[in-house]
Amino acid sequence: MARVVITGANRGIGLALATAYAARGDEVIATSRTPSDALAALSGVTQHTLEVSDGESVEAFVSQISGPVDVLINNAGISGPARPQQTLAEMDYDGWAEAFAVNSMGPLRVLQGLRGQLAAAPLGKAVTITSQLGALSLDWPMSYAYCASKAAVNKVMRLAALDLKDEGTAVLLLHPGWVRTDMGGSEAALSVEESASGIMAAIDGLTLETTGAFLNWDGRPHEW
Ligand SMILES: NC(=O)c1ccc[n+]([C@@H]2O[C@H](COP(=O)([O-])OP(=O)(O)OC[C@H]3O[C@@H](n4cnc5c(N)ncnc54)[C@H](OP(=O)(O)O)[C@@H]3O)[C@@H](O)[C@H]2O)c1
Repeated sequence: MARVVITGANRGIGLALATAYAARGDEVIATSRTPSDALAALSGVTQHTLEVSDGESVEAFVSQISGPVDVLINNAGISGPARPQQTLAEMDYDGWAEAFAVNSMGPLRVLQGLRGQLAAAPLGKAVTITSQLGALSLDWPMSYAYCASKAAVNKVMRLAALDLKDEGTAVLLLHPGWVRTDMGGSEAALSVEESASGIMAAIDGLTLETTGAFLNWDGRPHEW
């Protein structure tokens, strides 16, 4: 049985992951910004409050987590400013900064906080749900703030993979697919269950030999 921490677990892909890990008998530590009825309804899941862009909130959360953590899933994320306000023509710079705080810095804050707990596990796994839109190779001129925030977290986690390998913690970046959530919209290709199932298989397959990988939800390597 693995002990799994999931951020942004109250809806979307995070809730599907919490549901699926709990269903297979793993211990789920689910975090959300505010208490969630959806999480309260799940058995085998404990709820914690966590605002990933706030250092004090991260500290308060990690102080409650003693003992090894097998898997951290940095899932919480935002789209950033409304679409017209993150283009070459128009940029909401405060909104961009918020996207960086949540999507780029938040995952590192939580990883820093749980570093010891991951190192204490037989094979700690620090996973970040990024996006294909963060790939430098994907030339879609859209959502400058969101794309930049995901490109940044890709770099951050690549570096962390190098630093954490000797501690026995493996790092993985995952594009979850285009998923029907509040963020992905109703026209998206995948259900949250399909995405979560692929994500879990990719995490199961992560080793220290494959640390630092950037994968698609179905386990195929993603171009950087
Ligand atoms: N859906 C897609 O097609 C798609 C594609 C590529 C990548 N992704 C990535 O997949 C992840 C999950 O996305 P989703 O589609 O499930 O999005 P979602 O339905 O919008 O859910 C986002 C989750 O993140 C939480 N969150 C947002 N800001 C937070 C903060 N500052 N601190 C803590 N939690 C915060 C939200 O909590 P609240 O309820 O409190 O707002 C919510 O639980 C994100 O990282 C996203 O960028 C999604």
